[in-house]
Amino acid sequence: MRQAGRYLPEYRAVRARADFLTMVKTPELAAEVTIQPVDILDVDAAIIFSDILVVPDAMGMRLDMVESRGPVFRAPVRSRADIDALKVPDPERGLRYVMDALSETKRALAGRVPLIGFAGSPWTLATYMVEGSGSKDFKHISRMMLDEPEALDRLLDKLATAVRLYLEAQIAAGADAVQIFDTWGGFLTPDHYRRFSLDYIFKIVSNLHRDGAPVIIFSKGANHSLTAIAEVGADAISVDWTVDLADVRTLLGDRVAIQGNLNPSYLYASPEKIRHEVKSILMKFGAGSGHIFNLGHGIFPDVPVEHARALVRSVKEESPAFHV
Ligand code: CP3
Repeated sequence: MRQAGRYLPEYRAVRARADFLTMVKTPELAAEVTIQPVDILDVDAAIIFSDILVVPDAMGMRLDMVESRGPVFRAPVRSRADIDALKVPDPERGLRYVMDALSETKRALAGRVPLIGFAGSPWTLATYMVEGSGSKDFKHISRMMLDEPEALDRLLDKLATAVRLYLEAQIAAGADAVQIFDTWGGFLTPDHYRRFSLDYIFKIVSNLHRDGAPVIIFSKGANHSLTAIAEVGADAISVDWTVDLADVRTLLGDRVAIQGNLNPSYLYASPEKIRHEVKSILMKFGAGSGHIFNLGHGIFPDVPVEHARALVRSVKEESPAFHV
């Protein structure tokens, strides 16, 4: 969950020389900051430095990253005509820089750890494309969803195709696994979640030529639908910190691996307390494999690096007891 980023002085040093999108679009810089957390934190996998919003950018919406405001699309998608004007990009062309960043990173990692690729879910991408930026009330997409569901379906359908092609290209470029981030799935009611988010994730996963690469789904806040998510055909499900991992394991059994789920805010506490929380999560999951330890969402920019290191160290020291 956002390994690279502002909490790392080494990241900020690169960021001082280039803006965020330049970093994302320059394979050498993207590879450099992708590998930083592997060296600094000793994590067991790297996640490619990029952003979910490069897909709408390649579809023809110009993405801006505005300091202290986040991502902005100056011309949001509001009408049927706006949706029809979006193109489904050939990722080998329109998103070439991501594939180059992946192959450059693979080369530099030289097999040290696997490399994870990712994309946003159609629903989560649509929220940014329709709202034009991050949102609290989701007013425009709620209106579109209820007043013009056919228009939203058309947008989500285009996005599902674009995301599937994009993930396939990432796997071909060397991604060892891919994760679908559905950050805003939990905004929806359970019925609307299945209809407007999960069905399109299913469309991606069921058609994906994955060439053996595992697929991870993270629908933040959609804990009402974990069994439905497990039926989509992914290999792992990532969960936020509001569920008890023992309950999730009971519910899902060995059908899928489970990733999670430390509350990212707990990284503000002392390394001793972080270790205590790590142990409690490991005990919740219990003995055996099928658990990928992770945060329940992204790391905050002002978390002390020493605490992130303490987290990784604690997981490495405490987890072998569950694999005897
Ligand atoms: O290197 C890695 O660990 C990969 C990191 C990664 C980024 N974005 C880098 C980033 C990942 C996995 C993403 C995905 C992403 N982007 C999501 C889904 C996951 C999530 O966090 O819920 C979403 C919703 C976005 C959209 C996005 N990008 C937002 C809302 C923001 C602003 C966040 C903020 O705190 O200002 C971004 C910018 C962004 N993406 C940063 C990073 C490191 C911060 C950029 C900077 O100023 O340096």
